[in-house]
Amino acid sequence: MRVGGAAEWLLEPKTLDELAKAVQAARESGMVVRVLGKGANLIVEDGVVPGVVVATDRLNLMWRPDSSEGGQALESLLDALRLGQRPDARLAPQGREEGLRLLALCGATHQRLVSTVMELGWSGLEGLVGVPGHVGGGVAMNAGGKWGEMWSVVESIIVVDDDGELRVLRREQCEPSYRNGNLGTKVVAAALLKFRPDEVHAVKQRTREFLKEKNAVQPVAEWSAGCVFKNPDPAVSCGRTTGRLVDEAGLKGRMLGGAQVSPKHGNFIVNTGAATASDVLELVRIVQESVFERFGVQLEMEAKVWRAEVDGARAPRG
Ligand code: EPU
Repeated sequence: MRVGGAAEWLLEPKTLDELAKAVQAARESGMVVRVLGKGANLIVEDGVVPGVVVATDRLNLMWRPDSSEGGQALESLLDALRLGQRPDARLAPQGREEGLRLLALCGATHQRLVSTVMELGWSGLEGLVGVPGHVGGGVAMNAGGKWGEMWSVVESIIVVDDDGELRVLRREQCEPSYRNGNLGTKVVAAALLKFRPDEVHAVKQRTREFLKEKNAVQPVAEWSAGCVFKNPDPAVSCGRTTGRLVDEAGLKGRMLGGAQVSPKHGNFIVNTGAATASDVLELVRIVQESVFERFGVQLEMEAKVWRAEVDGARAPRG
């Protein structure tokens, strides 16, 4: 969304070990820990966000692990991964249909992931095209849309557990659901992803078609936090989605400062260039109020909001 203030402490780990230590140290100091992926589903308030923000940008490696016997179990790679090594990455090029697995650290972008598997002709993640974000966030919230979702390709993951230890969780140990990885307070550190073989041109075509459809109805290239609100229970909204409710309330295109309800899709608020978080959040309130007055439907936010303290109350320390 490109709005909002600073973090009191900002930590940028480069290895999984550093990630685990950063999370643990912050927790032990009694500070609130927030993990920042690509910030794709996030609105940060103006001011200073108290506590520790752990940014995963530098944990962006992604590679094909050894294809022998379907790739080694993630457990056996953990020690090397902790130190930032790329264990099990074969030096010799592998055949296109060998292995069919990618190991991605939490800071790898969906965009790179989708284009890498598209070039390999591997199927399973075409539906993630145009969904911004990092792998960590994508796994944590089971990112996706009507054409597919992240957990459809997850074989196992590494998390920073509540005790600060790095642990492997196999798919069977997890219970992902609609837009939720259901991982509680565990922090996603990496994911081993498994794909289905297909033809390169077929995967490319599907990916392009999905992106075209998405582009036609959503402001994909603009600064936003994705859909701002959840879709309401259809029984309450007479089957109308949030986008449709906002549309029928005549709010599309409504501006407040630099924030605007997208003229393309009613469930997006975009930053037209110089919006502040206050503009965005005030517009959120106006949309909620208008939709409630008109249809009696209470829209619940889907995008996350990080509360900040007023400027000057606390200066950034990191
Ligand atoms: N519609 C309108 N006016 C609008 C927008 C939509 O009338 O301004 C109507 C459409 O014509 C369509 C219906 O509403 O009949 C549904 O619209 P759309 O297909 O765009 O789906 P959505 O329910 O608004 C959901 C997800 C999106 C995801 C799309 C496609 C939620 C809250 N949103 O949107 O996810 O990309 O389906 O799979 O579930 C996100 O999570 O950030 C997000 C954008």
